Amino acid sequence: MSGGRPDAGDTTSVGRPVAHESAVQHVTGKALYTDDLVYRTANVLHAYPVQAPHAHALVTSLDVSLALEMPGVVRVLTAADVPGVNDAGVKHDEPLFPTEVMYYGHAVCWVLGESLEQARLGAGAVRVEYRPLPSVITVREAIAEQSYQGAPLLMERGAAAEGLAGAAHVFEGEFAFSGQEHFYLETHSSLAMTDEAGQVFVQASTQHPSETQEIVAHVLGLRSHEVTVQCLRMGGGFGGKEMQPHGLAAVAALGAQLTGRPVRMRLSRALDMALTGKRHGFHASWRVGFDADGKLLALDATLTSDGGWSLDLSEPVLSRALCHIDNAYWIPHISVKGRVARTNKTSQTAFRGFGGPQGMLVIEDILGRCAPRLGVPADELRRRNFYRPGQETPYGQPVRHPERLERSWQQALDISDFQRRQGEIERFNAGNRHRRRGLAITPLKFGISFNFTAFNQAGALVHVYKDGSVLINHGGTEMGQGLHTKMLQVAATTLGLPLEKVRLAPTRTDKVPNTSATAASSGTDLNGAAVQDACRQILDRIRDVPGETWEERVTNAYFSRIQLSAAGFYRTEGIHWDGRAMRGHPFKYFAYGVAVAEAEVDAFTGAYEIRRVDIVHDVGDSISPLIDIGQIEGGFVQGLGWLTLEDLRWDETDGPHRGRLLTAGASTYKIPSFSEMPDVLNVTLLDEATEDGVVHGSKAVGEPPFMLAFSVREAIRQAVAAFGPGDAAVELPSPATPEQVYWAVQRARVPRREPAWTG
Ligand code: MTE
Ligand code: MOS
Repeated sequence: MSGGRPDAGDTTSVGRPVAHESAVQHVTGKALYTDDLVYRTANVLHAYPVQAPHAHALVTSLDVSLALEMPGVVRVLTAADVPGVNDAGVKHDEPLFPTEVMYYGHAVCWVLGESLEQARLGAGAVRVEYRPLPSVITVREAIAEQSYQGAPLLMERGAAAEGLAGAAHVFEGEFAFSGQEHFYLETHSSLAMTDEAGQVFVQASTQHPSETQEIVAHVLGLRSHEVTVQCLRMGGGFGGKEMQPHGLAAVAALGAQLTGRPVRMRLSRALDMALTGKRHGFHASWRVGFDADGKLLALDATLTSDGGWSLDLSEPVLSRALCHIDNAYWIPHISVKGRVARTNKTSQTAFRGFGGPQGMLVIEDILGRCAPRLGVPADELRRRNFYRPGQETPYGQPVRHPERLERSWQQALDISDFQRRQGEIERFNAGNRHRRRGLAITPLKFGISFNFTAFNQAGALVHVYKDGSVLINHGGTEMGQGLHTKMLQVAATTLGLPLEKVRLAPTRTDKVPNTSATAASSGTDLNGAAVQDACRQILDRIRDVPGETWEERVTNAYFSRIQLSAAGFYRTEGIHWDGRAMRGHPFKYFAYGVAVAEAEVDAFTGAYEIRRVDIVHDVGDSISPLIDIGQIEGGFVQGLGWLTLEDLRWDETDGPHRGRLLTAGASTYKIPSFSEMPDVLNVTLLDEATEDGVVHGSKAVGEPPFMLAFSVREAIRQAVAAFGPGDAAVELPSPATPEQVYWAVQRARVPRREPAWTG
């Protein structure tokens, strides 16, 4: 594949490996992000928070007078300033200016200054008194104190208790695993201003401009048509900008409304990490039953997510976790309970996979732990339990195309030369006392569509100008994932034009209203179909207009008074979901993928190296192969970070900083870099994988590859097991940091007679 744009004049860009539409701007530093606009805007004020030094406390007094005397301090925003609703969430459980501090670092009020530094010094001069209250920090503490929020969930099929009673092998266990910091390169930012009529314009780094618009309007006491939100592009969102931008944008907008000046909100990395939500850590307890052949018979599990201080998206995240605990496996009898813990931490939120990875980690961990106890190789145990045609998920949706999973699996085995390398690894392990290798293969199945049916709609606006040039707008946002590139390709191909004749304008709520978040990997499915719809409307109208060239036809159409602009719309058909019963057909289809990973572990340090990874991933008919491969590589590496490196820690002691995020910067929070990349990383797109009923036969790609990283975790588990007698079941914490791997090796070398979990 040769990169770059298709040849000029080529009218079939869909399916071609074109470069990201902003690739050159990205690498030359020319791409504008929200905060860059500050330097093109006059008279800007800067916002800085006053943060509470308690995990849980009441604000007993707030005195801003000293701050107002500080040089450059223009105003301090407090609850008394809010003309509308003092709440930043859609669940109305997130006071924007709180009287009850709910986590360490919670912003109590915001100072506006002529410079960021003056605002920061002003924040230090605000006098706040607190009455500390007891706090809940860990998910285990929350469980002990029954500290929950939102509605509990239950997903059931068959009779789990009877299934377990009749199983040949029953195991049980517990597993608490970590969340993840988004660490988008661009931290949260927004820039708000008002015009002469009080119309509010907010530029924000948001995956969900329409909801940012709604929250800003609520806080300001305005109607939606008085607020416009624009998102140029994001330097990464990963779910962290699906709901978390709203309150921050509202603070900026409130400041602009009160002062008449533009207000800039931009969090430093430390503030971003301390204030904004992360991936949910989970606690799982489970009992699983297998028949004599190692086939899954029954699973009874309770998943408790660590929601932090408010609900945010915790309920839908939990719901997706439950809907993915089956991953690729048929489990006839199943009962899974879900609940959201309330803890005194940041409000945990969407993060690539949206709970799916957490649900799937539970079953992959179960299979990885149980395989040696069943005496079945882990790869064989996984394959044996795959869905077969005609089977349904626990929530009642038929699994479409499970044979693609089988095909991907076989292809991954072949490409990775699995059998031969397994023999090689056995020889290596036999000859090395302190270094051992492991090879693992894991599957993924991920449901595409928002569980909540109404969100599966999108709009687009396409203009053809008299000279034949085309401008498209759609409801999705660009965060690096290449959505805009794909939309340009779809528009150009639908209109039969070369790519360079089509331009794309930034996402704005006054162009396309009532949009859904760009999330659930559905950006292309939804917006692509809406763009296609708009283009087809225009084509229909000019079908009989004469002309040799596109430009001629367009000019003739204009003089015949034919409308050359169209609003497109799409909604996904055939899906439905009963969130209370946890039953229905929530997903349009499933994305599949398989990864093979080889790891080498050093017993002295617990350090490991990922020697090679081979991926076969199903993106349907790829609209944009370069983009898709980039998403697969990036998703995989982000998943690898979650499972092996990224170790969120809060102060759990009873000391004065209880509840403080200890890993609030790159110095203490390790994300993957080049040194952790696999030495070899091969990505293959599954061929002959057309997905009927989706734009150009493609499949969503944004989130699913994240879960390819289970292969790395399982390869490390295999390598650790190789230090033991061979049949030991290895418990591996998550993240499996070198420190944890070191201890796992020590445990494997001296297997306990009585395992911590019983069978
Ligand atoms: N890729 C990049 N480069 N940056 C991102 O922020 N977000 C991911 C994924 N890929 C993200 C990304 C997440 S969480 C989702 S839901 C999808 O992109 C959203 O975009 P899509 O629906 O267009 O795939
Ligand atoms: Mo992605 S977590 O759905 O923004």
